[in-house]
Amino acid sequence: MSQTQLPALRIGLAGLGTVGLGVVKIVQRHGDLLAARAGRKVEIVAVSARDPKKARGVDLSSYAWESDPVALAKRGDIDVFVEVMGGHEGPARLATEAAIAAGHDVVTANKALLAHHGHALALSAEAAGRVIRFEAAVAGGIPVIKALTEGLAANQIRRVIGVMNGTCNYILTRMEATGQGYNVLFDECAKLGYLEADPNLDVGGIDAGHKLSLLSAIAFGTQVSFDAVELEGIQNVSLDDIGLARDMGYRIKLLGVAQMTGRGLEQRMTPCLVPADSPLGQLQGGTNMVVLEGDSVGQIVLRGAGAGEGPTASAVMADVMDLARGTRLATFGQPAASLAQPIAAKTATPAAWYLRMTLLDKPGALAKIATCLGEAGVSIDQMRQYGHPGANAPVLIVTHKATREDIDHALGHFAGTGVLVGAPVALRIEEV
Ligand code: NAP
Ligand code: HSE
Repeated sequence: MSQTQLPALRIGLAGLGTVGLGVVKIVQRHGDLLAARAGRKVEIVAVSARDPKKARGVDLSSYAWESDPVALAKRGDIDVFVEVMGGHEGPARLATEAAIAAGHDVVTANKALLAHHGHALALSAEAAGRVIRFEAAVAGGIPVIKALTEGLAANQIRRVIGVMNGTCNYILTRMEATGQGYNVLFDECAKLGYLEADPNLDVGGIDAGHKLSLLSAIAFGTQVSFDAVELEGIQNVSLDDIGLARDMGYRIKLLGVAQMTGRGLEQRMTPCLVPADSPLGQLQGGTNMVVLEGDSVGQIVLRGAGAGEGPTASAVMADVMDLARGTRLATFGQPAASLAQPIAAKTATPAAWYLRMTLLDKPGALAKIATCLGEAGVSIDQMRQYGHPGANAPVLIVTHKATREDIDHALGHFAGTGVLVGAPVALRIEEV
């Protein structure tokens, strides 16, 4: 059979929100282009959402309606089940499992589902000869899954690093640009509709942690291990830290880092300082950036929209087009049964640290702090004391490379010096 005689690829679409409607619009707008590129038509057969009466601004009249996404997933007249409802349990999980059991391929934008159940779903899909693709789940419109799985397939990946939550990057860059505090900008994000239904997924670093865990699995050939990601959100990043970091030539980012070390797999999603003039340091607003480092290719920088109707639907449809063309890759780039059980690194790679504190301005105060650091084996690289009207002096220290444990050990002794006012802030400075 020649390519043009192939039957249409038939989609069952579960979810008609931001992403689902974007998928509908691409299929309706670009029908000829998709058919020309895939060598066959790509069409939506049936859809599902909660509210059948909701006005959605697109013509859905030619699609069958299923009020139950599990029923949609089981339909005999679809080839691929596209899941864009969200949530790591409930309908998304049940319908995805049902689609695989019914013999359908799955395309999903749901990072939470895969971060929690990706390995089990990949095993069952592969046992059934089915494929799960999830380009849209990580960094929206950026083709990072494709880059890792295909473009860099012959590389040993050294490190994956990036900004993977646009909302957090928007808040942090707007704090610097406007001088407005975290709470004001959180409210602005709520008004703009940027926040997930549970905003803690964004600002708590969880959403970005989900994404990092999926990239780790592909990069290092390991089972998804979201529970092992060290997570810290941006809620406590202050305007003071943003300003002082800038004075030292840095910007604060919610940064994901995954690397395989001799101590095991390191996965972190935490606020970090990066050089202001680096590509990551220059990243503004809601944009995402993922940096991939391979032994042969060196460093690759991918930048683009991490969310939104068009970019996310573009990524969903890239996966659909792969299936239409007959490209069938294992979920995490190699057979799921061959993915290793990762050993989580108990200690992180040493780094330079930014330490901000307020000290009583009296003789010997700095010496006491320096002694705590020295006794913990932490060496000072730079130190600044800022002008101040009262008796309390803002002090900033940048250390040479040290482990988190040594930093914590030193901080633990700061309180006993009697010169510390309030709690110190410690942020890792990442080499990028
Ligand atoms: P959304 O706008 O909230 O849309 C969710 C859709 O799912 C709605 O159409 C909703 O129906 C439907 N739905 C929810 N529960 C359902 C159920 N029990 N049965 C049937 N339909 C149900 O969400 P979204 O922003 O499009 O996100 C969808 C997925 O893509 C999520 O996994 C998200 O994390 C991921 N994602 C989103 C973006 C983005 O920019 N938005 C980017 C990357 C990844 P009703 O419309 O009737 O309420
Ligand atoms: N809430 C996510 C973000 C969008 O702000 O990046 C989808 O992943």
